[in-house]
Amino acid sequence: MTGNPASASAPARLFEPVRLRSVTARNRVAISPMQQYSSTEGGLANDWHLVHLGRFALGGAGIVFVESTAVEPRGRNTHGDIGLWDDAQIAPLRRVAGLLRGQGAVPAIQLGHTGRKGALQKWWEGHGPLNEADAARGEGPWPVVGPSALPVDTGWPRPAALSEDEIQTLVQAWGQAARRAAQAGFELLEIHGAHGYLIHQFLSPVANQRSDAYGGSPRKRQRFALEVARAVRAEWPQHLPLSWRISLADLDDGTLPMEEMVAFVNALREAGVDVLDCSSAAGISSYPSNGARVPRGLDFRAQDAAEIRRRTGIAIMAVGFVIEPHAAQALVAEGAADLVALGREALFNPNWPAHAEQLLQPDPGYALWPLQYRSWLAKRAPLLAAARAATPAH
Ligand SMILES: Cc1cc2nc3c(=O)[nH]c(=O)nc-3n(C[C@H](O)[C@H](O)[C@H](O)COP(=O)(O)O)c2cc1C
Repeated sequence: MTGNPASASAPARLFEPVRLRSVTARNRVAISPMQQYSSTEGGLANDWHLVHLGRFALGGAGIVFVESTAVEPRGRNTHGDIGLWDDAQIAPLRRVAGLLRGQGAVPAIQLGHTGRKGALQKWWEGHGPLNEADAARGEGPWPVVGPSALPVDTGWPRPAALSEDEIQTLVQAWGQAARRAAQAGFELLEIHGAHGYLIHQFLSPVANQRSDAYGGSPRKRQRFALEVARAVRAEWPQHLPLSWRISLADLDDGTLPMEEMVAFVNALREAGVDVLDCSSAAGISSYPSNGARVPRGLDFRAQDAAEIRRRTGIAIMAVGFVIEPHAAQALVAEGAADLVALGREALFNPNWPAHAEQLLQPDPGYALWPLQYRSWLAKRAPLLAAARAATPAH
């Protein structure tokens, strides 16, 4: 972490609380959903998830997201995905939500369905489609579904095109998973509508070549997404905020050009979505883009996000290579975003929020740190400064 410490008199907007419906986050730093492929049999969260996520709450984040959590078994990415398709999956996630809340973070969870991008190997096993060798070690593929019977690429499984009845069943599955997330004690719910997964597949003119009510015109391609949003909102308590992850690469690749994006976001707002979590590029994978490669730098697509925010009034969460505290602060101070989310940077340094706060807005009392650490760190700071001053440069 680099940069000059700010003066103690300049409050950093990044560390101002933010209110979403009835929920107040202590600051504007969220930890992005990150799949761990580490569930216990049956899609259950376990001690790994508890400790992995708990570190981020101890590290000062305002919001901590649990990874993409499958709304039905077919919608898993890998055999290691956690799920909320069954009431039995609530209890271990309630433990996670309780820990996050107890450490001052808003407990948040993302719900997802991978569609045709399901049945993959875990990252450390290659992350390609599951094959016979995987089956031989007990992790075989399962049949995947999508808007159309179009595989991601050659060598990928051909999804079964969902019938309209199956779509309705699936929409209800999203709603039931949202109900379970509320029962587990989460206070912010996110719908994964990006990264080439099922909702994104429906939005895309490449993956969705249906000619019924769910495909064809942009509005018809948006229908599944909006039905999911409404079904989730119907089960998710009104006083709790709802977020939607979108890919800003959609602006460039023919899926959602700006005018369509604005119309879609307005429709999401009407369906009760409060926050747009803007993945800055196509994300983990560019599928199902039209093939356009979106150049990536260390910049979040701030201008696009600011325009969507200005034209729709939705709260924006910026994600993608948010690394430097001053850059994160600038995103919220200059109106591109209301929140920033960290992925890999938080894996690198789970204490990023607490460190960034000391850089932007030094607090001699270390109030963002766990109660158990505070007075030790407060005493350490002058002792360390004195020890450094007394030590000849080497
Ligand atoms: C290990 C790992 C797992 C991820 N899993 C998810 C996920 O479950 N849902 C999701 O929307 N994005 C997922 N992502 C993407 C991140 O949430 C984030 O958008 C992306 O890493 C860009 O942010 P960064 O540059 O700060 O890492 C994952 C990323 C990583 C590194």
